[in-house]
Amino acid sequence: MFGEAPRAAPWFRATLVVAGAPSAMLLLLAAIGELAPRHAAAALIVTLASGAAVARIWLGSLGRLARQIRAASGGDGMPDLSVAPLLPSVQDVADGVTRLARSLAERGALVERLRRADAAIIEALPDPLLVLAADRSALRANRAAREMLGTREGTDPRAGAATPPDAAALLRHPALAEALDQALSSGAPAVADLVLPVPVMRDVAVQVIPMDPPLADGGRVIVLLSDRTRERAVERMRADFVANASHELRTPLASLIGFIETLRGPAADDPAAQQRFLQIMAEQSDRMRRLIDDLLGLSRIELTEHQTPSGRADVAAVARAEADAMAPILAGRKAKLVLEVVDCAAEPADADQLAQVIRNLLDNAIRHGRDRGSIRLAVAPGAAPDGRAGVVLSVADDGAGIPRDHIPRLTERFYRVDKGRSRSAGGTGLGLAIVKHIVNRHRGTLTIESEEGVGTTFRVWLPGG
Ligand SMILES: Nc1ncnc2c1ncn2[C@@H]1O[C@H](COP(=O)(O)OP(=O)(O)OP(=O)(O)O)[C@@H](O)[C@H]1O
Ligand SMILES: [Mg+2]
Repeated sequence: MFGEAPRAAPWFRATLVVAGAPSAMLLLLAAIGELAPRHAAAALIVTLASGAAVARIWLGSLGRLARQIRAASGGDGMPDLSVAPLLPSVQDVADGVTRLARSLAERGALVERLRRADAAIIEALPDPLLVLAADRSALRANRAAREMLGTREGTDPRAGAATPPDAAALLRHPALAEALDQALSSGAPAVADLVLPVPVMRDVAVQVIPMDPPLADGGRVIVLLSDRTRERAVERMRADFVANASHELRTPLASLIGFIETLRGPAADDPAAQQRFLQIMAEQSDRMRRLIDDLLGLSRIELTEHQTPSGRADVAAVARAEADAMAPILAGRKAKLVLEVVDCAAEPADADQLAQVIRNLLDNAIRHGRDRGSIRLAVAPGAAPDGRAGVVLSVADDGAGIPRDHIPRLTERFYRVDKGRSRSAGGTGLGLAIVKHIVNRHRGTLTIESEEGVGTTFRVWLPGG
């Protein structure tokens, strides 16, 4: 009825505690003759029996309570003290213990939920994060860190505990080691800028945050990495752009200033030289005007690049019109233009911008192609590599071609394979940058294939049909 029987020694001791004093009193009364031995023996038996019963109930209840508390504290759930009746005082203790156990279990669940939320937030952070132990070894890495530093085979990347193979190399970086020293000795966050050479060159800004007291998993330091490669590249591009644009404008401007000086001085009385110089000045001013027009055009296209165009463009008609407009320049180079145009339309598309693409590509094919060369302008329906229906527009020439190393950089602003030659041919180096931005705005693709000595083909795919 009360579970396991209490062991002999405590049971005996408890019986003595309960029945000891009255038994001793009975024996004393019998000894001095105040109580008949018969009555004393009967009273003694009853006292000891009731003492033993009370001791047994008491110890049984306490034993059961103790076992339930042990089970609950070992994480085996709430104590269940409702099965058998207990002594009233023990029942009060049991009720108190049940309430305490319930509140501890609720707190435990809350702590677990918070721990999981912490782990999930750290795991989902877009910036790479490492948690380091006191010996500076990586304890944990979030998903972004594993992507940045590689994931070791056989570790579960969802666990958040996989330490990436490149983490150790990263932590040995002198600038980061110095920031770790500083953060650990001062107890305040420290920062460092690193350049990581492998697997690709990256600029990384690091924040080292010491944890005092340490995290639950023993983490002493949090290392937060921010990949600044793109920002730095954009900063460099912007600086290069300003330098290039100023340089491109300064050259014709210097020449104009020089000729103005000459016209005012040495050539003041030489009408023939004046005419010659004015001719050059007109060319240089025209070059500056073209450059400024292209720069403004490019910045306009860049501003709208994120908005796809809304209209529909009859690419075949645009190609025929642009081919006709090229006749004088073709004649100047004695080049031949072959048109292979199938009726088709791009959508969504901006016909004026597509005309600009065709004009720039034809202009390049004529100017950078060969004298008396043959140029092919083709327009036809065609699918993108991913299967989307659209229009393929290509301009192919049989010129000298472009060395392979230069091809990826052709669409950069001011990039020219042969600067001197392109400039003397009147080029600003912005044509293909404009083409690329227009194609991007149309969510199309631009591919360049070239073989030295054979020729170059520019191919543009645009959505439509
Ligand atoms: N069809 C081509 N064949 C050979 N090289 C080419 C061809 N098209 C472009 N290039 C090379 O790519 C460079 C960049 O072309 P891009 O059109 O951007 O500038 P550009 O023609 O020099 O000047 P512009 O701004 O007037 O177009 C050219 O300078 C040239 O070196
Ligand atoms: Mg060009």
